[in-house]
Amino acid sequence: MADSIGIALLAAGKGTRLKVDIAKPLLPMLGQVMMDFVVESIEGFLSEFSLKGHIGAVVGHQKEKVEQALSKYSNVSTAWQKEQKGTADALKSYFNDTHEAWNKDYTLVICADTPLITSQLLIELYNRLKADSTMNAVCATFETEDPTGYGRIVRADKGFKIVEHKDADEKTREIKEVNSGLYLIKTSYIKEHLDSIGSNNASNEFYLTDLFKEGENVYPVLFKDAVAFSGVNTLVQWQEVQKELQQRKLESLMLEGVFVHDLNSTYVDWSVQVGSGSEIYAGVSLLGSTKIADNVVIENNSFIKNSTVSSGAKILAMSHLEEAEVGSNAAIGPYARLRPKAQIGEESKIGNFVEIKKAILHKGVKVSHLSYVGDAEIGSESNIGCGFITCNYDGANKHKTNIGSGTFIGSDVQAIAPVNIGDKAFVAAGSTITNDVPDGGFAIARQKQATKPDMAKRFLKTKKDS
Ligand code: UD1
Ligand code: MG
Repeated sequence: MADSIGIALLAAGKGTRLKVDIAKPLLPMLGQVMMDFVVESIEGFLSEFSLKGHIGAVVGHQKEKVEQALSKYSNVSTAWQKEQKGTADALKSYFNDTHEAWNKDYTLVICADTPLITSQLLIELYNRLKADSTMNAVCATFETEDPTGYGRIVRADKGFKIVEHKDADEKTREIKEVNSGLYLIKTSYIKEHLDSIGSNNASNEFYLTDLFKEGENVYPVLFKDAVAFSGVNTLVQWQEVQKELQQRKLESLMLEGVFVHDLNSTYVDWSVQVGSGSEIYAGVSLLGSTKIADNVVIENNSFIKNSTVSSGAKILAMSHLEEAEVGSNAAIGPYARLRPKAQIGEESKIGNFVEIKKAILHKGVKVSHLSYVGDAEIGSESNIGCGFITCNYDGANKHKTNIGSGTFIGSDVQAIAPVNIGDKAFVAAGSTITNDVPDGGFAIARQKQATKPDMAKRFLKTKKDS
């Protein structure tokens, strides 16, 4: 039978050194919160071994907000640590409030502020513990040139102990191998030792690290990759960790066949999908739930949030898309703005300085220059001239403009909504359309031109001498 495993996710700390009023587990990171990365790694590890796992997150500071952020996970419950009296006390809260926690074969202890820990690392730790059935606990360690603040690993012939920085003498402080705060422990071993942990130390806190003792069947597992254990205590560390995650995201896209031209200036949220053969140029931001299909080109400095772009489309430089849909082989920009509910049909073309909002444009529509299309529907293959405007707002309400297919709208036309222009219609340049135009109809709504020969001199001004 597969092992059962309980996961104590420690997330009660205040994060005082951040100097912002955000609970540390909720720091924003690549479109999600920091804690999501830890949960994702845990889930990857559990599924590798088909383990039955349940996460009990220990919350305290900004309890409600942290609980809210965890509510989307079906296998996460929360435990409340009223006062942050140390990591051993946090683990007690986990056992008190998490259903069946004492009945799990193993307990994984992991901190919410170490988002670079991967599933692979957890898999390795689990394999190390399983390799020897007499082993009661393993602690992940790493070496660092500056171990200040970390618990030092003091190895013995059998077992080991951890001495916190504050409690360490000069000689112990020289030890470069430190505690990462990640442990995998037989639950029976915790049951035997947790209650005996006291708070007689420099911090007057209950240290979970006191579970590890010389003479016990407990082992430190040294990992070469110290970066994986980077913790976030300040916004400087938050930035470093985020940069590392961004690098991982961009590398994973490249390994899936995406051309990422500039790693330093490209910002792609963790959940964004990009299909193979697509190209992302410098300065591009792809955010939120954005999905980019295959063979899409996204030119420099475009911003795309919560949008879908179908295969073969081109998003030319400096375009801004939010909650928009772009059909296959469409071309957007340069300098285009697609606002929420803009749906651009396949092979359509949206050119420079065009703004589209809540509008459906069917296949092959062209709006090439300087236009505003809002609350509208435009049928396939219609051509909208330069400077077209849907006058959709009357100061209180929004109204709709419908334009049929195969219709030609000349330059500098205003459609005063609500208004309907039919299929294969023709609207002359400079018209202000207030009445419906039927299918096949021609509409012109402008003053007739008057031309007077030789009269220009009456109007041409010359500069007076001062
Ligand atoms: C801890 C370890 C130290 C290790 C370091 C790695 C102890 C005593 N020391 O120190 O050996 O090198 O992590 O980063 O465990 N937390 C609670 N409730 C509490 C206290 C902490 O939930 O009462 C949570 C924090 O939110 C955090 C984690 O536990 O996620 C670690 O606590 P922290 O105060 O950062 O411990 P360190 O002093 O860094
Ligand atoms: Mg810490």
